[in-house]
Amino acid sequence: MSVKPLSHKSWVIYEDGISREKMRFQETIFTLGNGYIGVRGILEEGYEEECAGTYIAGIYDQGKGQSSEIVNVPNPFRVEVYINGKKLSMDNMKVVEHRRILDMKKAVLSRHTVFTDAGKRYEYQSRRFLSLRNMHLGVLRFSFRALDGDAHVVVKRIIDGTTRNEIQAVGEPIKHYAVTHASDTASGVLYLEARTNDLGILIGMASSGDMVTGKFQPAVETKCYTNGESVVREYCFDARKGRRYRFNEYISIYTSHNFEHDVKSACLNGVELARKQGIARLLRKHVRAWDRRWQNCDIGIEGDLPAQKAIRFNIYHMLIAASSEDIDVSIGAKALSGEWYKGHIFWDTEIYILPFFIYTQPEIARNLLLYRQRRLSQARINAKLERYEGALFPWESAASGKDETPKWWRGPDGVLIEVYTRQIQHHIVSDIAYAVATYRGVTKDHGFMLDYGAELIFETARFWASCVSYNKKISLYEVKEVTGPDEYHKGVDNSSYTNYLARWNLLYAAELYNKFLEMHPNRLKKLSKKMDLSQNEVEKWRDIGNKIMFLIGKNGLIEEFQGYFGKRNDVIEQWDKKGMPIYSKDEEELKHTQLVKQADVILLLHLFPNDFTADIKKMNFDYYDARTTHLSSLSPCIYAILATELNDIDKAYKYFRYAVNGDLKAYFGNTELGMHAASLGGVWQLVINGFAGVRVKGDILSINPRLPRNWQSLEFKLVWRGNNTSFRVSGDKVEVLLSSRNKKIKLPMSIYNKACYIGAGKLTTVAK
Ligand code: BGC
Repeated sequence: MSVKPLSHKSWVIYEDGISREKMRFQETIFTLGNGYIGVRGILEEGYEEECAGTYIAGIYDQGKGQSSEIVNVPNPFRVEVYINGKKLSMDNMKVVEHRRILDMKKAVLSRHTVFTDAGKRYEYQSRRFLSLRNMHLGVLRFSFRALDGDAHVVVKRIIDGTTRNEIQAVGEPIKHYAVTHASDTASGVLYLEARTNDLGILIGMASSGDMVTGKFQPAVETKCYTNGESVVREYCFDARKGRRYRFNEYISIYTSHNFEHDVKSACLNGVELARKQGIARLLRKHVRAWDRRWQNCDIGIEGDLPAQKAIRFNIYHMLIAASSEDIDVSIGAKALSGEWYKGHIFWDTEIYILPFFIYTQPEIARNLLLYRQRRLSQARINAKLERYEGALFPWESAASGKDETPKWWRGPDGVLIEVYTRQIQHHIVSDIAYAVATYRGVTKDHGFMLDYGAELIFETARFWASCVSYNKKISLYEVKEVTGPDEYHKGVDNSSYTNYLARWNLLYAAELYNKFLEMHPNRLKKLSKKMDLSQNEVEKWRDIGNKIMFLIGKNGLIEEFQGYFGKRNDVIEQWDKKGMPIYSKDEEELKHTQLVKQADVILLLHLFPNDFTADIKKMNFDYYDARTTHLSSLSPCIYAILATELNDIDKAYKYFRYAVNGDLKAYFGNTELGMHAASLGGVWQLVINGFAGVRVKGDILSINPRLPRNWQSLEFKLVWRGNNTSFRVSGDKVEVLLSSRNKKIKLPMSIYNKACYIGAGKLTTVAK
């Protein structure tokens, strides 16, 4: 069983016509990537509004900035075409036709534009991709036609070393590298080399090109030269009316970061090899790699074409953000599609994005977790700096694992605000531990737990044990002065989300310790020695875990933090056309109210679905839904999941439509700054945990679908315990197909609350 290839329409995103106001938005939407390189969807020639962003995963620099940020490296895709000395560009000429198409199945961006000048039309077309088969390779094909008469043409292929990180919340744009070498080789290959400011990471880019000559080869004068910080190959020729002139370009990018060989040779070999293969072959390989990538994670929705397309768009943007190779990086809040949040990695990755990878491409999830594990030593230092024990993962992380949270940031209304999530938004510690546990639960990758996970779990538990304070009067442990997910209320005591996760972290660690004691005593001995960990310390974790304050009333209502119910009891009273709240955005005022920025208590109920009864879920949902502003894109998807659990499918669908289109239709309001990566993952969870009702209950995968009314069917795939499993939900039945080499395998599942065992290779159908 495979997801039915619905119409081609559900795989493509179009732009028809050009709009200056939307340029930056389109750049984000049309980002290409292969997990290593991300390139915003700029027009090759440039224009006034452009934010030409090229990012390489893991390359950060601080320079004069507040903290280190992902470097906007040189732009290797620049093309300028001059007609009788005038550049083809929307800044100089009128655009009479313009269409771009992002093919999400193939990750190829194509373009067709016609400019007019002095009554004559000029056509420019291009197609580009970043190879998924070879992450160091980019390919660009472009062509030019003078439609209404002969013209003298100059085409410039440029590696542009003038880019900089333009978007700063505070201060001026920053150029995070200096061009150290720009040259062309005798064979016309362009090469540009730059070094980042602080660490001196070498970034090399080579570009080799051909003007594709047919029968009617014009007399072409070609020359290469460096132009300040850029390197240029120029073709000069007389174009005949109506004839198409084609160019192929092969781009190779390497850096010295985690790479022991000579960067320049790697780039030059890269373009030579690519050129030998030719574009058609490279494209075929790239498309095959993408086919494989989609195979395990596509979602098929029948009966709702806009949703089908939008969900693929969400998945596409997660896929281009993650490398299938272990390159010691994680996914930033804007993935590789923009500079906002400085390319920093937040809890967004572990709580929102990671489940998608855990369930569909566990090898990638493993690499993302290794990114944290490799920064465990730094997390220990972070804890010490703040006078804690164990490991304190930073609220915002970049290359080193130090806390990179900037001191100042600009709020949604443009006002400068002091940021103090750094010292107190500690829930990230257990969010990461939670992700390790989820990975283990779904994959049963015990090796990972033994080699890496356990140490992280123990060190995070140790952090919490040092973070709590004992309140003798009530005989409970408290966590003071933290910020939970709801950032309107900063520095609060006993945030329910934080305390519940801390409790879970401590108890999970104690349980894991006991399991290891039984099953891997030698490994545990070694680890305990390394960590100076004793059974007494573990018993203390258990004790604290059991006695951590959790503010749940007799009626089941959870107080977001101590004193929350004493705040002004504002509720949402107005909604916009999309059904989203309208409210005052003054944070100074909001902090005195019960209005909530984003899913907080409700997120807790989603993360621990088996710990709370339906009545408790309903009571809390009703309470917080009336008070949540959804200012953060991390919010609507989670409310929708809870709504599905409560069988309020219309409400769930309302939030789904908003979240799944958040970037695609610019609902989130600032997509021009980059994609909202957490929401992409949250929407995936909404479809799988929410509408499909997939939940893990111990060793059982439980499926309880409740589809929106207009969905005739929903198809999806999961890798459950290492086995590729396909699901199809339609009407009142679920079909499951498990492919496993082990023909004797029988996986316990619960479908519509009916226990069943799924064998390999045979379609199992369960009716409601
Ligand atoms: C949210 C955080 C989130 C961050 C990055 C903030 O607006 O409140 O929860 O981690 O954005 O996406």
